[in-house]
Amino acid sequence: MSRISLEESDLKRLFDALNDSVEPPEELVAKLFPSFMEKLAAGGKFDFEALNRIRIPTLEYAGKRQEGVILAGAVLLGQSAPLQILRTFGEPGEDGWRNLIVQGDNLQFLKTVFLNQDPLIKDKVKGKVKLIYIDPPFGTGDEYGGSGGEESYTAKIMGSEFIEGIRERLVFLREILSEEGCIFIRIDYHFGHYVKIVMDEVFGNNNFRNEIIVRRGQSKAGFFKQFEKINSIAVAYDTIFWYSKRPETRFLKISKDAPDDDRVNGKWMNLIKSKAYDRPTMKYELLGINKDAPWMWSKDRSFKAVDNYNKYIEFSRHTHESLEEYWNKTGRALEFVRRNNNQIQYWIPPRDQVLVDNNWLDITGYSHQTGYPTENSEELLFRTLQITEPDDLIFDCFGGSGTTAAVADKLDRRWITCDFGKHAIYTMQKRLLNIADSKALGQEKPSKKYSLPPKPLAVVSVGAYDFSRVMDLRKNKEAYIAFVLALFGIPREEKDFAGKYRLDGIYAEKDGDPVEIFPVWEDDYLYHVRLDEDYLKQILIQSRGRIRGNYRIIVPETCTIVGDLTLKNQSGEPVSFKLLKFPYKILEEASRNFSLEEQPNSPDNINNLVSSVGFYFHDDVAVEARKTPGGLTLSRFSTPIVNREGKTYEGLEGLSLVLIDLNYDGKVFNLHKAVYGKEIGEDGGIGLEGVTEKTAVIAIDRHGNESKPVYMK
Ligand SMILES: C[S@@+](CC[C@H](N)C(=O)[O-])C[C@H]1O[C@@H](n2cnc3c(N)ncnc32)[C@H](O)[C@@H]1O
Repeated sequence: MSRISLEESDLKRLFDALNDSVEPPEELVAKLFPSFMEKLAAGGKFDFEALNRIRIPTLEYAGKRQEGVILAGAVLLGQSAPLQILRTFGEPGEDGWRNLIVQGDNLQFLKTVFLNQDPLIKDKVKGKVKLIYIDPPFGTGDEYGGSGGEESYTAKIMGSEFIEGIRERLVFLREILSEEGCIFIRIDYHFGHYVKIVMDEVFGNNNFRNEIIVRRGQSKAGFFKQFEKINSIAVAYDTIFWYSKRPETRFLKISKDAPDDDRVNGKWMNLIKSKAYDRPTMKYELLGINKDAPWMWSKDRSFKAVDNYNKYIEFSRHTHESLEEYWNKTGRALEFVRRNNNQIQYWIPPRDQVLVDNNWLDITGYSHQTGYPTENSEELLFRTLQITEPDDLIFDCFGGSGTTAAVADKLDRRWITCDFGKHAIYTMQKRLLNIADSKALGQEKPSKKYSLPPKPLAVVSVGAYDFSRVMDLRKNKEAYIAFVLALFGIPREEKDFAGKYRLDGIYAEKDGDPVEIFPVWEDDYLYHVRLDEDYLKQILIQSRGRIRGNYRIIVPETCTIVGDLTLKNQSGEPVSFKLLKFPYKILEEASRNFSLEEQPNSPDNINNLVSSVGFYFHDDVAVEARKTPGGLTLSRFSTPIVNREGKTYEGLEGLSLVLIDLNYDGKVFNLHKAVYGKEIGEDGGIGLEGVTEKTAVIAIDRHGNESKPVYMK
């Protein structure tokens, strides 16, 4: 066993550290625990950061999980959820990079990035993100509407469920950050203080950089005038917490336009004396003043600046020019120091920019360019992204209207954004594709257009939903079978299908053809087996020619890696495999009716931050519309989805949202207006100016499936 050998000075350092309640220096740990360090040298790891984290206050709440459990959730399936390219715009350059708009639940997407297997993002994103900006729902319980009063998304999940939802995303976000990266999270008074503690836990309190305050919009102070007495005062700001991945990282400075006067005139400030400069070279007599505290500047620098000022005084006796004029004439580089009564002052020359502090109330926090609710201002993101360099990768997984993406694009940063709302996705797509017509960043000429095309981008779907709340299918096999059959409107039959088709796993027939249910209640199938071409070939081999025509398989989207396929059976006849896919999330939605291993603690928090379910049917959602004098009317709408009772929706009942492009070019759908189902009368009428034959609509049903764009009839 290795011997401990400590010098006198080591002991002193150890006691000092203990007395100050700080970590002993790393090399002392090596001396104190030599055998442990030998293990480390042999490939073990010791996480000093983790030690640091243990010492901070932590937040306790119901349902809080270990980080390890959260991260393990990503590997449960054994493979990542596939990213599917939906649309691409522009051709990538030599590096092959495209910016990404990701449609789907950000937790699922984060897990996919964390697993780092999908070819689209493999080795390009994990550990490479330089800046994360997120502005999640604030956990207020509010519903947020578009500028037309539509309901766009809801922040309905509250309490510990909300905090845990944020925390698990933060854990994954930390894992995908680059070592030199950092994260900004915008939040408000409802949960801000809890989020701060959670950020300390996840990132380490030594990575805390700043708390920044951001304007919320028009102050509501006037509202309180009507009351004699009040119970609180108006709220004027949101908070942004800024954390880094590593404490030693340094970032580019953030500046803003200087006030008008500062651009023309210089000003005198006291030359600070501070203990921070406590070095012998900084202690000297300056213009007859010799205080104990050291000066902010070195002796050489100060003396030269005094000399410069004396020269200027001498010079201006004849020319009467101002110090600004003199400074400009001499090349805008000279520094000046003077004595003013008992103060030593240095001169700050005129400047176009000044550095910012953490009060950002000077700029707007929200703006209303896109009509999407809670759109953050480009000024705010412009300021935030200043700490990064061109080409850095910027990530926002609560994308909304796409402010982070738009600003990153204008600043030549690469970006990835994500949102599961279709309204958000089409808003972002439009915003990016029309970026040339938007305002240039910076304040000098507010009306100047940006005028450059967007960098190459792709809209992709994360294609699957979160598996984190897998219900206990072993106990609920029968409920599951009944549920998924009802989902697709197929009645269950008790027949000897095994005898008829020589196959297990068939539970019903549709139009006389067999319907198999992929057996997710068996762990092996749930986590490892994937429905691929070989799987289908096995079915043909086992059934020995008993199958011809159509063969349907009901399968969660995450468990299949093929789409519809036609193969030949043993007699050479075609068998058309039709996959009835659905996202696993739908099971969570349904799980209220089943007994669960992990019961949700309220009917409202079945889902993560915001609920979203969607089917992947092959029958498209169908819509037809015609032009009317006042706008347009939906003359037909149908969706194959069914409600909880297993019935299809009548009329417009199953409609969630209609997206309208007034002038559709047949290629790119340019969202002009989003109208929610609730706002459309029973006759399908939508009031809107500018509708022509070139106007097209997309209908989105209540499960998120969308129709193809169709022109007016
Ligand atoms: C406050 S808004 C973001 C606004 C955005 N910063 C902007 O400038 O427009 C929050 C967004 O997060 C989205 N969101 C909520 N939960 C989500 C989830 N689990 N996955 C992806 N997006 C989600 C909502 O649809 C909403 O668009």
